[in-house]
Amino acid sequence: MSKKPYVIVLGNEKGGTGKSTTAMHVMTALLRLGYKVGSIDIDARQGTLSRYIENRKTFANNYDIELPMPEHHRIERSQADSTKVAEAEDTAAFEKVFSSLQKCDFVVIDTPGHDIYLSRLAHSYADTLITPLNDSFIDLDVLAHLKADSLELDRPSIYADWVWEQKKNRAVRDRGSIDWIVLRNRLSHIHANNKEKMETVLNTLSKRLAFRQVPGFSERVIFRELFLSGLTLLDLQDVGRPLTLSHVAAKQELRNLMNHIRFPDLDQKVKAGL
Ligand SMILES: Nc1ncnc2c1ncn2[C@@H]1O[C@H](COP(=O)(O)OP(=O)(O)OP(=O)(O)O)[C@@H](O)[C@H]1O
Ligand SMILES: [Mg+2]
Repeated sequence: MSKKPYVIVLGNEKGGTGKSTTAMHVMTALLRLGYKVGSIDIDARQGTLSRYIENRKTFANNYDIELPMPEHHRIERSQADSTKVAEAEDTAAFEKVFSSLQKCDFVVIDTPGHDIYLSRLAHSYADTLITPLNDSFIDLDVLAHLKADSLELDRPSIYADWVWEQKKNRAVRDRGSIDWIVLRNRLSHIHANNKEKMETVLNTLSKRLAFRQVPGFSERVIFRELFLSGLTLLDLQDVGRPLTLSHVAAKQELRNLMNHIRFPDLDQKVKAGL
């Protein structure tokens, strides 16, 4: 394992696409492999990831069981009036938290579904950026504007442009690169036609915008139920909840995502361990 933490950022300028849910699952997968994981909630005002982790602690206390936990931080956005001062304060706050996590193997960062400076900054630290995307053309609009008749790329959207910008910032800072993964979420078994169209368009876009497309999670009730107990799919067995076929299939989808992340030095362990 390399010395500095491997950074996984969850980002998408659109809200409600599954960033926090995916962050929690990726983090728990890594914790269950025995890694030390730090987590940062940039979306501190909404605080979904922080609340998820608090719920997890409460559940573990109430039922007197051990659940693996990340070293968690939330970062509040600066309230300074001047943009320059606010950005300097945001940068200082982020760097302080980030340097306190240097002993971790991984840092997982959850960002809000809108454009703020802290989110851009966090993106520029990513080794892997995961952008969950609901399987709809409305959500796809965040990545690219398409021509309605041919579904060809008209122009990249603002989010795709600023990912590009953060790739450059990352390269300037430490010559590192960002591996961008677009993860299709809430896939439906019913709308096969839409699913197929999305796949074709995403394949073309992935070459133009330089991301890799990964089929993600199907639409499953379990994802909505787990938040209140702070649990993930990977904890169900430990807390004595029976696994249904749907849960097993969802775990396989998570394993598939983990296998797509280009971890340094530990591919074998990730593949074997989940
Ligand atoms: N695969 C899925 N199946 C069913 N529900 C899902 C799935 N993924 C996410 N959800 C649900 O969708 C909602 C949005 O998910 P989540 O909060 O993770 O998104 P987000 O991108 O972090 O949102 P925000 O931009 O507001 O931070 C939640 O109610 C969550 O439980
Ligand atoms: Mg969120």
